[in-house]
Amino acid sequence: MALTIRPINPRRDDFVAEVTGLDIAAGVSPQLAAEIEDAMDRYAVLVLPDQRIDDDQQYAFSTNFGPMETATGDIAQQADRRLSMDINDISNLDRNGKVLPRDDRRRLFGLGNMLWHTDSSFKPTPSKYSLLSARVIPEEGGNTEFADMRAAWDALDPKTQAECLDLVAEHSQLYSRGSLGFDQFTDEERAKWQPVPQRLVRRHPRTGRLNLYVASHAGAIRGWPVPEARMFLKDLTEHATQREFVYAHRWRPHDLVMWDNRVVMHRARRYDHTKQRDMHRTTVADSAPTLEQAR
Ligand code: OGA
Ligand code: MN
Repeated sequence: MALTIRPINPRRDDFVAEVTGLDIAAGVSPQLAAEIEDAMDRYAVLVLPDQRIDDDQQYAFSTNFGPMETATGDIAQQADRRLSMDINDISNLDRNGKVLPRDDRRRLFGLGNMLWHTDSSFKPTPSKYSLLSARVIPEEGGNTEFADMRAAWDALDPKTQAECLDLVAEHSQLYSRGSLGFDQFTDEERAKWQPVPQRLVRRHPRTGRLNLYVASHAGAIRGWPVPEARMFLKDLTEHATQREFVYAHRWRPHDLVMWDNRVVMHRARRYDHTKQRDMHRTTVADSAPTLEQAR
């Protein structure tokens, strides 16, 4: 089967493409996976429509792209979980498949996904790719938006670029959730999610392109006063998420969308919280902490 790769973003033709001509449930050859990685280098976000997959098939496909993360960033751990630790639960459901009450702690924590972010930047080694499978979606709302931090970098003025180049930000889920007023963390969660350092500017290991690396998890810049750092991070995020850099994905059931967390931010949009939304995410880890990667 030959892949068909078609840019689908009306705003730019080097960001977001649709990929057809493969059946993940049937298995994907290493050669096909390599073609997909080439397309990821170019487009950063790929939409693979009509992939009727279960968790095992999604996981097996994801392993083509590197070592896998476990869901240690989810608030529901072990006994509390609906899905295995190999799958991030991006739903509003409890372990019996019932919609969570409005004030449920897991739901309120999950609202943090509506802030612009990149997955697992709060882990020492962050994530390379996320793959999100739409199993059940509400009729209205619940889009996911993606922002191209490569284009955002290119559009920054040279003076700001120079200022950013060697900065190190600190990322934590305590910051991102804290900015929404969510502070009901257990001691164990606080200890697990202590801030970790990440470069503010990254270079893609295969394309050599530079990009900004910001997220709502970033709450400090090393060597800077905190309010000044937060204000600068807000400014950079505002810059990076201007409409010209953003693609909004409207989900259809069985879409699989994969994105390169090293170069894009994303966020969920609102939907009726009484309706089911069931999305399963697999997450591929990056190779090393960003400070150990080439500038
Ligand atoms: C994620 C995420 C956004 C959404 O899966 O990492 O942030 O729209 N999802 O559910
Ligand atoms: Mn996310």
